[in-house]
Amino acid sequence: MNTLAQRLNVDRLLLQAPMAGSQGSALALAVCGAGGIGALPAAMLTPEALAQELTTLTQGTGGPWNLNFFCQTAPVPDAAREARWREALAPYYAELGLDIAAVPAGAGRVPFSHAVADLVEPFRPPIVSFHFGLPAPDLLARVKGWGSMVLSSATTVDEALWLEAQGVDAVIAQGVEAGGHRGMFLTEDLTTQVGTFALLPQIVAAVKVPVIAAGGIADVAGVRAALTLGASGVQVGTAYLCSNEATTSALHRAALQSEAARHTQLTTLFTGRPARGIPNRVMRELGPLNPAAPAFPTATAAIAPLRAHWEKQGSGDFSPLWSGQNASGCRSAPAADITAALLQGFA
Ligand SMILES: Cc1cc2nc3c(=O)[nH]c(=O)nc-3n(C[C@H](O)[C@H](O)[C@H](O)COP(=O)(O)O)c2cc1C
Repeated sequence: MNTLAQRLNVDRLLLQAPMAGSQGSALALAVCGAGGIGALPAAMLTPEALAQELTTLTQGTGGPWNLNFFCQTAPVPDAAREARWREALAPYYAELGLDIAAVPAGAGRVPFSHAVADLVEPFRPPIVSFHFGLPAPDLLARVKGWGSMVLSSATTVDEALWLEAQGVDAVIAQGVEAGGHRGMFLTEDLTTQVGTFALLPQIVAAVKVPVIAAGGIADVAGVRAALTLGASGVQVGTAYLCSNEATTSALHRAALQSEAARHTQLTTLFTGRPARGIPNRVMRELGPLNPAAPAFPTATAAIAPLRAHWEKQGSGDFSPLWSGQNASGCRSAPAADITAALLQGFA
């Protein structure tokens, strides 16, 4: 048993990855009920929705759960880049007879803040995890002060050392196989992003805090491999995307369960930060890392109407089809079954 598990009073650290836009409290509750640690992603929730979800979650489980935030800083507005982005998207608007000038610029994802902390504090989350670094020291101290364990993703050894120095209770080593956003925050250089097998043992050797492995883990053998490489636990995302309790759209589920999911790419087109998803028309035609895409999270606003239009036609050509490199674990099943299967890797 490791220190984090002891402090959470569990014997196996199987964390369901928080997946903003693809799940809410229902998935977290199902995972908690089956002996895993469920997560509630807060990045895309309004304060009202977050309060509602926290109420549902805390009424439904007594076991440990994880509340997750993004902690980006607001980007400096860049009118020239926004103009280049709109120019790149203009032909797609013209194709539909839509006016891109009518689309307001906007954020789309909310970072952690004192106002959000006011709302969260009464719910006393056993774990609060962050993606893209950590919030400002006073905010971090506040979260630790009310007793939550603090976790954050590291995509390099340097990031893991930085997180440890700031006082996290555990580091999530996020290999480049992982679905969704890269948690990278000390570098924007994608050549630093390596696979879980390369990253995990290096982080385990570098830090004293427990390390949770994430990225490409989808079955018992994957869990065992991560534990063998020194992980204290694992965090699994993609394998839960087609579970009954996930809110993943029908077209996203279909892509995940088709041959299309054999291909994934990092792309900045949907939010401005690199994230792994199944390639679609807009990624192929504009290039997945097109430099015109505005900084996170402002890229979302101008592509959102195209996404909405095409999803109504049953097409994911302008949707983020987030997926890790290993979608083999995606099955339409109760999350409890997926959790029970993964837990066998700890035996
Ligand atoms: C659809 C999707 C959404 C995600 N959203 C978040 C999020 O909101 N917060 C977060 O910390 N990580 C997010 N992630 C990344 C996961 O925390 C984790 O690193 C990843 O799922 C692990 O790799 P795997 O998908 O191969 O299991 C997301 C991943 C996916 C697939």
